[in-house]
Amino acid sequence: MTDDAYGLAKQAGEAIRSATGVETHDVALVLGSGWASAADRIGTVQADVELSSLPGFPPPMVAGHRNLLRSVRAHGQNVLVFGGRSHLYEGHPASTVVHGVRSAAAAGCRTVILTNAAGGLNPAWPVGQLVLIADQLNLSGHNPMTGPPPPDDLPGRFCDLTDIYSPRLRELAHGIDGGLAEGVYAGVLGGSYETPAEIRMFAAMGAELVGMSTVLEAIAARHLGLEVLGLSLVTNLAAGLSPAPLAHDEVLEAAQNAETRVVDLISGLLAATAP
Ligand code: HPA
Repeated sequence: MTDDAYGLAKQAGEAIRSATGVETHDVALVLGSGWASAADRIGTVQADVELSSLPGFPPPMVAGHRNLLRSVRAHGQNVLVFGGRSHLYEGHPASTVVHGVRSAAAAGCRTVILTNAAGGLNPAWPVGQLVLIADQLNLSGHNPMTGPPPPDDLPGRFCDLTDIYSPRLRELAHGIDGGLAEGVYAGVLGGSYETPAEIRMFAAMGAELVGMSTVLEAIAARHLGLEVLGLSLVTNLAAGLSPAPLAHDEVLEAAQNAETRVVDLISGLLAATAP
């Protein structure tokens, strides 16, 4: 990615407007591993755009992610659904990882829903548990606010992250689905799953979820003043807590099983936040 990450996001925002024919989008929904099918059921499709055809987006490379940006009309809102995301472990810089969120903001979005598949550290949570992210530990060693400073028409880099995950949206979500848990998400660089010793360290640090995405996007979204909801699906118990070795197929299967609840929750949130 170029040094002008913000300029590129502005270009992508314009490209989203012209490719979808939708002047302003309201909500961005970023889908994690295995979440893609849920998106097909939240509303009426207005346009499909190949993500990698837009400025700054590389082709996604992980099974279960799709190279699709979909504009959906749902509950009076224009929703930009990102079928895939870029990860640090693919070798992308932080600026590429957060490019979707910055482009969504440039396309008008004021809210972002970040979903992911995560390992669970809380022994009380079964596989398939849906968890609202209450706060995060950015253990990735990267931060999207490094590099050249944001342009003058945007806030400065030292953004406040006190309420990084919107208390208002979390309260709405609890009202829609009484079975949601809340927890702190530890975002790691990834590339491999963790060792049991690493998982014990993360638990001692207060983490209840571990995953390889979301934390950088949440920071970039808050910097731009977006309201952020983070939603993890526990697809496996974290290393050392699970009897069997971790497998990517199980992650995808657990996500498929939670689909109906996820659709209901996201639809409910869109209805509750409609203007
Ligand atoms: N660790 C890291 N990332 C993950 C996991 C995990 O156990 N499960 C799904 N994504």
